[in-house]
Amino acid sequence: MKILVTGSRGQLGSELLVLSASCPHHNFFFYDLPDLDITVQERVEALCTNYNIDVIVNCAAYTAVDKAEIDSATAYKVNSDGPAVLAACARDRHALLLHVSTDYVFDGTSNIPYRETDPVAPLGVYGRSKWEGEERIRAIAPSYMIFRTSWLYSVFGVNFVKTMLRLGADRPELSVVVDQIGTPTWAADLAAVLVSIIDRHDRDFSYGETFHYSNEGVASWYDFAQSVMELAGVSCQITPVESAQYPQIASRPLYSVLNKSAIKKDWGINIPYWRDSLKAMLQQLGAEKVA
Ligand SMILES: NC(=O)c1ccc[n+]([C@@H]2O[C@H](COP(=O)([O-])OP(=O)(O)OC[C@H]3O[C@@H](n4cnc5c(N)ncnc54)[C@H](OP(=O)(O)O)[C@@H]3O)[C@@H](O)[C@H]2O)c1
Repeated sequence: MKILVTGSRGQLGSELLVLSASCPHHNFFFYDLPDLDITVQERVEALCTNYNIDVIVNCAAYTAVDKAEIDSATAYKVNSDGPAVLAACARDRHALLLHVSTDYVFDGTSNIPYRETDPVAPLGVYGRSKWEGEERIRAIAPSYMIFRTSWLYSVFGVNFVKTMLRLGADRPELSVVVDQIGTPTWAADLAAVLVSIIDRHDRDFSYGETFHYSNEGVASWYDFAQSVMELAGVSCQITPVESAQYPQIASRPLYSVLNKSAIKKDWGINIPYWRDSLKAMLQQLGAEKVA
């Protein structure tokens, strides 16, 4: 299939680029700013027509959660208008749109993993703009799959794991939030799921579905940081702090664990445990402790 990947220099897009090397049966086209701005309809349409695109994988997003509170116009443009442009293009070409969304559509007041059908109540601009993007896709595209994921990290880009490694190398002690619970997700695992679904997808698609996908298991940011230091052999003491002691511009859900039963059942996907994936990522980064 001919697959357009947007936002291709981000974490997920970069992982798809790596994977594409082992997918000679597909033609991938990777685009990011400034060559492709997903909010510019004519450009999106021209690329899709020129390459005769069958599948659009939207990895483009405004992901700066705190900055979104200050620059909400850009957040809504990229996270809501952009997906609407892609959805219209997919509709007009009878193409499939794979889109990625976030656990931050939930307010975190639950204490059991969120299902796809649970009511959303985003706490900030980022979550609201992502939710709006989802809804616009549902309204426009006849063939789409939305994957809500959480706490993405990768060897590419800036993320929590790399920040912890950088800070841990310089400081003897770090304070990390202990009362926000979710699941870290290696972007390479999510990329593999997307490719596996494309591989098995019927060419004659006409269907809309939302799935939750994260790695398996549960952690606080404190647990996540502890594991990074332990697996990388960095001797930096992690001190647990509550969110109230670590004020941030945007509120985050205190609990955003995703229930992944639907994707496991419908697509037979085996999901790696988050610490195993973290170990694999650190190995790739060359940061895993030598046993
Ligand atoms: N990161 C997380 O923890 C997390 C958690 C849950 C869900 N998600 C979702 O997962 C998806 C992938 O996230 P990620 O971490 O891979 O994101 P990322 O690393 O921030 O990558 C996003 C990419 O999109 C590009 N982009 C921004 N505006 C664009 C536009 N108008 N047109 C085209 N490209 C544009 C960015 O370019 P610039 O860098 O130049 O802006 C960047 O290369 C996103 O939908 C995100 O909302 C992420």
